[in-house]
Amino acid sequence: MIFGKHQKVVLASGNPGKIREIQAILKNHPIVPQNQWNIEEAEETGTTFVENAIIKARHAAFHCQLPAIADDSGLVVDALDGAPGVISARYAGIGASDEQNVAKLLAALEGVPEELRTARFICVLVFMQHADDPFPIIAQGVWEGRILQQTAGENGFGYDPVFWVDEYQCSSAQLPAEVKNALSHRGKALKMLTAALANF
Ligand code: IMP
Repeated sequence: MIFGKHQKVVLASGNPGKIREIQAILKNHPIVPQNQWNIEEAEETGTTFVENAIIKARHAAFHCQLPAIADDSGLVVDALDGAPGVISARYAGIGASDEQNVAKLLAALEGVPEELRTARFICVLVFMQHADDPFPIIAQGVWEGRILQQTAGENGFGYDPVFWVDEYQCSSAQLPAEVKNALSHRGKALKMLTAALANF
């Protein structure tokens, strides 16, 4: 299949913020959220962000018969051998709240000194022309930081209140959204995808 101009692209997410961001990149192609089809969410069985993003993009492309974009993101903590990693959203169990995930993380890091609390947010974005595309476009963004001893700030979501941003000397939940977007793993991955899709 050739990816023609103005052809729709399905996004394996129903998040309106993500749809807006991707639409701003792929100006020539209407972005349609996957939830417009009556299909189940893909099972995220991969052990890496890139595997899960490919699983989600392939699932969306197959069921919607359209080119697809999917993302996968999370937090990697060195002192925990990379946990919470691909299970960041459900670290404290399926359906866990952000507060429960953060509490579990702080408990797991109890007694770990500041210099060993290094961590990074990861975002992987994948574009596939069709479900059997052997050469998906993969964009990755990384945001380095450290895990605080306690929460600080009200902005953002997920692990933002415990993610220390050295260059601004505050947590990522204390940054205004536009500053976070300019620094973040997601912002970087989106920039990389923009460059890679410039020819489409
Ligand atoms: P998703 O796969 O993009 O829905 O994100 C997975 C999980 O990683 C989220 O539920 C958060 O717990 C965490 N996460 C990803 N990006 C961020 C971020 O920018 N700030 C805080 N937590 C994040």
